[in-house]
Amino acid sequence: EVIEANGQVLLPGFVDLHTHLREPGREDTETIDTGSAAAALGGYTAVFAMANTDPVADNAVIVDHVWRRGQEVGLVDVHPVGAVTVGLKGEKLAELGTMANSQARVKVFSDDGLCVADPLLMRRALEYSTALDVVIAQHAEEPRLTVGAQAHEGERAARLGYTGWPAAAEESIVARDCLLALHANARLHVCHVSTSGTADVLAWAKDRGTKVSAEVTPHHLLLTDERLATYDPVNKVNPPLRTESDAEKLRTALAEGVIDCVATDHAPHAVQDKDTEWTAARPGMLGLQTALSIVAETMVRTGLLDWRGVARVMSERPAEIGNLADQGRPIAVGEPANLTLVDPDAEWTVRGAELASIAANTPYEGMRLPGVVTATLLRGRLTARDGKVC
Ligand code: NCD
Ligand code: ZN
Ligand code: ZN
Ligand code: ZN
Repeated sequence: EVIEANGQVLLPGFVDLHTHLREPGREDTETIDTGSAAAALGGYTAVFAMANTDPVADNAVIVDHVWRRGQEVGLVDVHPVGAVTVGLKGEKLAELGTMANSQARVKVFSDDGLCVADPLLMRRALEYSTALDVVIAQHAEEPRLTVGAQAHEGERAARLGYTGWPAAAEESIVARDCLLALHANARLHVCHVSTSGTADVLAWAKDRGTKVSAEVTPHHLLLTDERLATYDPVNKVNPPLRTESDAEKLRTALAEGVIDCVATDHAPHAVQDKDTEWTAARPGMLGLQTALSIVAETMVRTGLLDWRGVARVMSERPAEIGNLADQGRPIAVGEPANLTLVDPDAEWTVRGAELASIAANTPYEGMRLPGVVTATLLRGRLTARDGKVC
């Protein structure tokens, strides 16, 4: 097949360090099959599937199932993230070594959905990860500071009577974990950074030689707590949408490398879990098929990143952080053909019902966005072409 690429941009295939595929447990909202399709259409050639499934991915049987299912579907490499603890919010470390050495060769461990709150447990997890040369990806928030929290703590939440979710809940844990990572000589990855203060903490920690990396989601780059005024739970997410000054700082931090990469935190939810009152709704939003466009809108159109920079934050850095030797490689002779072709000038209108995910909870419904993925290749084979899965 001849691929016409006039005026288009060729990039290394995108790598998502943070995807919720919901299998096993919530196959009514997403499966490895449908999530892989969404990933391929979004330009991804590898995704890391979060561990907060049911049952939790805290053992070799589950992670190997996820890995094998991903290979069977064959649209994107699905790397399971192992849970740090037995069960989410667990009090005991999982057998990280068994998962790291199983067929799935787990490279990233996280308790996403709940952070490791106990400092001693976090310290032991970091020390263990150093020995295994894997990464602990911390969902950063101090849960005791967010009990009952429904939205970013500030004027807007106060006006609506919602319990606030302070920036300090995130910043205090990130500071603590950076210090523990430095102590353990461990690699720490901070999930979905959402506040300006966290960017300052990361810059400080990196400055002192901490091996810390961080991701930001497309929605935290674009959306703010101004969305609270809509009362629409599609905007409810963990961590919450913050202020305009936070979003602005996150965009600069990403451009400057203080934040290393973009990760979607793709979080499909059933209609009944979103189409309800704000306080009852589950947090999370879809992200795989809209990520490139939101990055184009917030980072490229604004001049903060050129396409070389997009390759860095969507492919090269996440592949490095996730220890994937075959992804995020420069486009060069002899490199694996994991590639994404993007039409930077084309625009499209987001329709949740038309996305490949089973769920439809996109906060961008009806928005016209720049940047269309026209082809995705996994090891030289087309996985998506002009909006259709191959
Ligand atoms: C995540 C999910 O739905 O699994 N939701 C979210 O808002 N990001 C879990 C989580 O990260 O809290
Ligand atoms: Zn999270
Ligand atoms: Zn949490
Ligand atoms: Zn998540």
